[in-house]
Amino acid sequence: MSKETIAIVGATGAVGQQMLQCLEERKIDCNLKLLASARSKGKVFTFMDQDITVEELTENSFENVDYALGATENDITKTWMPWAQKAGTIVVDNSSAYRLDPNVPLVIPEINPEDIQKNQGIIANPNCATIIALVALHVLHQEFKIKRMIVSTYQAVSGAGVKGIQDLENQVKDPSIPSQAFPYPIAYNLIPQIGDFDENGISKEEWKLQNESCKILHDPDILVNCTCVRVPIMRSHSESITIECEKEVDVQKARELLAHAPGVKLVDDPQNKIYPMPLDTSDQDLVYVGRIREDLSDPSKHSMILFCCGDQIRKGAATNAVQILEELLK
Ligand SMILES: NC(=O)c1ccc[n+]([C@@H]2O[C@H](COP(=O)([O-])OP(=O)(O)OC[C@H]3O[C@@H](n4cnc5c(N)ncnc54)[C@H](OP(=O)(O)O)[C@@H]3O)[C@@H](O)[C@H]2O)c1
Repeated sequence: MSKETIAIVGATGAVGQQMLQCLEERKIDCNLKLLASARSKGKVFTFMDQDITVEELTENSFENVDYALGATENDITKTWMPWAQKAGTIVVDNSSAYRLDPNVPLVIPEINPEDIQKNQGIIANPNCATIIALVALHVLHQEFKIKRMIVSTYQAVSGAGVKGIQDLENQVKDPSIPSQAFPYPIAYNLIPQIGDFDENGISKEEWKLQNESCKILHDPDILVNCTCVRVPIMRSHSESITIECEKEVDVQKARELLAHAPGVKLVDDPQNKIYPMPLDTSDQDLVYVGRIREDLSDPSKHSMILFCCGDQIRKGAATNAVQILEELLK
C-alpha cells in the first residue's frame, strides 16, 4: 500500500518543528512535505533518517497531499486553505481562523473525538490555553457540571512562536534588546495582554477560552471569566482555575477522577511541595493538575480551585493535531 502524503505548513516555526518531532515519535510513516515562506526555502530537516528540504508554499503545494497540518498565523492560513481544499487535502489547522466556523469541528481527542467525523475538509485544533484547561476539567464537568470558570493564565513566551522565544533568550542577557513579539520587555516582567482588547477590555485570547470551551464541550451555557498573562517562562502554560458547578463538589472525588483522566497526571501533594510546575511539564504531553481544594469563599460548596500546567507547543498544539491526524488515518 502506498504511504499517505502529509504536509506541515509552517514547518520552520515553533509548532511546525514540534509537529515534525511528534510525527516521528508516534511513528507516522508517511511521505512528508515541509512548507514555509520563501525565506526558508532550501532549509533541510531530518525525518525518520531522511533529509527533507523545505519548499516555498505556493498555490500548487497541495497537489497529491492527503493531509496537511497547519501551523501558520491566521492571515497566512486563510490564503492557503482554499488551495488545500481545492486539492482535496484534509487539514488539521492550528490557527484560530476557522475554529468557530460551524462547519469546522474543534477537537480535543480526549474529549470530543467523535466530532472529527463531521469534518468537511478542515478540523481545527483549539487554542493552547483552552486545550490545557479542558483536558484538566473535562472529567470534573462530567461529574459536577461546570457552570462557570474563573481562570488566570501564566503563558509561556513560546506561545508567541519563534520570535517570543528569541525575545526571552535575548533579554535575559541584555534587557535593553527590544521585543519582537510583545509590546514590552518580557524578561524580568510579565504582560497582562495576549491579543487585542475589545471595547469591554477583554482580549482575543480571553475570548478564545470562553467561545472554544462552549464549542468543545457542546455546552453553550458555560461562562468563562479569564485573565491571560504572558510570563517569562520559555515553555508550558500554567493556569489557576476556579470552577463553579451545578452540583455540590467533592474534592476527594475530584482527585480520584483526575487520577484516571485521559491526558492528565495528578500531581497533588502540597504538604510535600508537590504541585504542577512548567519546568516539569515541558517537552511531554500530559497536563499536570494539582493544588485541588474547595473554594471556601463559596459557602454553598459548589466551587473548587485547581492549578494546571501543560506544554502548549506539544499538547496545546502539535501533539493534539497529530492525535487528530491519527484518528483520521485509522
Ligand atoms: N506557539 C504555540 O505555542 C502555539 C500554540 C497553539 C497554536 N499556535 C498557533 O500555531 C500557528 C503557528 O504558530 P508558531 O508559534 O509555530 O509560529 P512561528 O514560530 O512564528 O512560525 C510561523 C510559521 O509560519 C511560516 N510562515 C510565515 N509566513 C509565511 C508565508 N507567507 N508563507 C508560508 N509560511 C509562512 C513561518 O515560516 P518562515 O520560517 O519561512 O517564516 C513559520 O514556519 C499560529 O496560528 C499560532 O497561533 C501556536
